[in-house]
Parts: sequence; C-alpha cells; structure tokens
Amino acid sequence: MSLESELESLALRCTRQKPVEVEGVPLFTGIAANWDSIWHFKARPDDLIICTYPKAGTTWTQEIVDMIKQGGDPEKCARAPIYKRMPFIEYCPPIPSSSSSFEIAKTMPSPRLLKTHLPVQLLPPSFWQQNCKIIYVARNIKDCAVSYFHFHLMHQFFPEPGTWDQFLEDFIAGNLNWGSWFDHVRGWWLAKNHHPILYLFYEDMKENPTQEICKIAQFLDLELSEPVINRIVQHTVFENMKANPHANYTTIPSQIMDQTVSPFMRKGTVGDWKEHFTVAQSERLDDICARELEGSGLTFRTQL
Ligand code: A3P
Repeated sequence: MSLESELESLALRCTRQKPVEVEGVPLFTGIAANWDSIWHFKARPDDLIICTYPKAGTTWTQEIVDMIKQGGDPEKCARAPIYKRMPFIEYCPPIPSSSSSFEIAKTMPSPRLLKTHLPVQLLPPSFWQQNCKIIYVARNIKDCAVSYFHFHLMHQFFPEPGTWDQFLEDFIAGNLNWGSWFDHVRGWWLAKNHHPILYLFYEDMKENPTQEICKIAQFLDLELSEPVINRIVQHTVFENMKANPHANYTTIPSQIMDQTVSPFMRKGTVGDWKEHFTVAQSERLDDICARELEGSGLTFRTQL
C-alpha cells in the first residue's frame, strides 16, 4: 500500500491516543508497541539525524538541511513532502501498517536524512556506534509549550490537551508525548561533549538565519556560495514554508491534522507565549527553569 493510501485509511480510523511509557518516557502507543524494532534501528555512518523536542523548529531545520544538501535547489526539495524525504524514525501509525518509518528508512539509499524526537537516552544505540552526525534544535520552553498546545488541538492522534492551564501543568510534569522538555534539552546538551552534535537554538535561527545556515553547512563539511545561502534563507523563511505544500503538512488528511483548528505553520515567532501565559505562570516557569537548568550552562532567550 502506498503511503498516501495508508494515510487515507488511517484518517478514517483516527482516534486520540493516551501515551504509554517506554523506559519512563511517555510515547505514542504505536511507538511503544514497536519499541524493540525502533531500539534496534540500524544507523549507517553517513546518516544525519535531526533531533528535537516536538515543536522546536524540526520541520524548519529539515527544510534547511535538505536545501543545503541539494545545493540550494528548491525543485529538488519539492520531490516529496518533508516527512517522506526524512523519515521520522520512531513514528509508527497507531494501527498496524507497513509504513512504519523505520521500515521505510531501511529501504532508503544513503546518505539518509532522518528525524527523531527521542530523548538522548532512547536514541537507538547504533547512532552512537556509527558516530553519526546529529543536529539538535532547542526552543525556549514557553514558546515550545504554546506551540505544542495548539498542535495537540489540531492533531487528532494526540490526547485532548484540556485547557491551557491544564496543558501547561502536564507539560511541566513531563506527562506529554516524548516526556520532559527539561530532560530533553539538558540530556542532548550534555551529549554534545562526547559526540558530534551541532546544538542549535530556534531563537538564533530566527534572529540570524544566514549565520545558522552557515553553521549547519560547516558542520556538514559543505561550502555554500553567497547566492546559494540567500536562496536557502528565502526558501525557508516562515511565510514561504507556510505556503510550501512539501513543508507545511497540508498533504496529511485533515482528519489527522486539522489545519482549520490551527495551521501547522502557525505563527513562527519568538515571544508568542506572552499571548497565553499569565504573569504568575511565566514567573513560576522561570523559577522551575532556573532550578532545572542550573549548572548546565544552558540558557534560553524568550524574546528577541
Ligand atoms: P508555532 O506553533 O509557534 O508557530 P516542529 O517542526 O518542530 O513541529 O515545529 C513547529 C513550529 O516551528 C511551529 O511553531 C511552526 O510555525 C514553526 N516553524 C516552522 N517553520 C518555520 C520557519 N521557517 N520559521 C520560523 N518558525 C517556523
């Protein structure tokens, strides 16, 4: 069955799913059910994997990386939607299906571009054994939480988010799919001390996309000319990605992602949290963040 027809059939049977814990981390039932195969995923030395906590700017970084790899040619990046170009290694549809991403990835030619939201301790060990390059993108907790809230509203596989206040409590407690934001950003930050990981921040990408694109190219040992860099910046600016059907997830049936509730490319800004947080919530989160990240050397900007 093609991915398109699987999506259609999934859309018909789409229900919101409660997460199931794998090694203490809440994950989709399909991921938990296939955990053994995911854990034994066979990485190849020339794989590049983009890792993020959900809503940190994964799709944006994926499009940038593909544009870099394709020499800044948007036609080549239009060969398929982003989720086909870069399999989301742990993603397994909530119903039995042949299109589990790890199965699709197996058949892809090298060099592969892959995506994961797994926390560092759950990354399949062969990525470490093969010394694969990893790009990690982190986004400040407040904008990440707001973006994840809207994503829960629109994505019909996620549990009902409840009110914003309830959702924020679940987010802070690490009860949502892929677990604690704190553990995620901190775990990957520490991992970069012993592994080739380029650790990027959404806020830096927003402030100076040219600089961050050059960092990625350098990490991939690729040299880009100025016109190519400019083309990549233009192609991946929020408005253009929002209009790009190969990046904006409009090819996913609306029974799964209801973009009338909230578009996948929603706002794309730093500081939208101010529209959602009360002063008390914001101050409380600042305190928790200071405590949780203390001594790590990891700091975030919540406005530019
Ligand atoms: P918002 O919901 O705050 O708008 P992910 O790809 O990890 O799921 O992240 C999605 C978030 O990244 C959404 O945030 C989305 O709008 C934002 N995003 C996607 N492409 C972007 C771009 N080119 N520039 C800035 N933000 C972008």
